[in-house]
Amino acid sequence: MLMSLVIAHRGAKGAAPENTLRAIQLAADQGAEWVELDVMLTADEVPIIFHDQVLSLSAEVPVLVKDTPWKRMQNLQVAAPVGSTEPSAPIATLEQAVNLIHQLGLGLNLEIKPAAKGLGEVTLERSLEVLKSCPAINLVISSFDFSALQAAQRLAPNLARALLYETLAVDWRDAVRKFEVRSIHLANLDSLDAATIASIRELGLEAYVYTVNSLARAEELVSWGVSGVFTDFPDRFTRLLASKSKRVSAYGDPL
Ligand code: G3P
Ligand code: MG
Repeated sequence: MLMSLVIAHRGAKGAAPENTLRAIQLAADQGAEWVELDVMLTADEVPIIFHDQVLSLSAEVPVLVKDTPWKRMQNLQVAAPVGSTEPSAPIATLEQAVNLIHQLGLGLNLEIKPAAKGLGEVTLERSLEVLKSCPAINLVISSFDFSALQAAQRLAPNLARALLYETLAVDWRDAVRKFEVRSIHLANLDSLDAATIASIRELGLEAYVYTVNSLARAEELVSWGVSGVFTDFPDRFTRLLASKSKRVSAYGDPL
């Protein structure tokens, strides 16, 4: 299997400020073995772990990540989700995130998320430079942006690549062949069905689904052949899985 059954989406984003070092640490504490993080470039091309192209909507004119140098960003805080008791946390660089991931022994699905149209290739290039300078980790590169996947194929052909779609595009098989991907990551929509997953598996690829926060839905997806799910709440899955295995050993029979 390329990744794991449970992948912490933006770290443990349900409890901690998303895409921060704290979210990565919490994902590991909650039993996740892989994390998914988004990477984009600041104005001075520092790869940072961040999801949105807009840095702040509170200013009169929205402040864009692509226009803001890292120096002006490094003291900004990412808020914890509503209802969480966690404090806010600083934005992390890719370098900081990879070092922590290595320390924790996690795998990383790095989603290349360009800060603006046309930045897919450079985002991949700068991210690769950082990844090469850090200790080696298990890694899968994914993107909605074809130019990022193409650059990954050219510059790091041995790195596992994944196509991201909300729903499969009509020409998805062409994209699979062109970018030589190992997996496809699809949105958890009501329209997603077992036949779609089967068509992906028929090509010898793995399928992963984002974002799944209910164990029942995850079990349904796995029964269709999905290899793993991205979740904001790894603890919901790991706790329940642990209690299941306890019951197996208590009664001797699988449930
Ligand atoms: O990589 C899976 C998922 O993170 C894609 O959507 O918007 O959460 O980055 P998004
Ligand atoms: Mg993402």
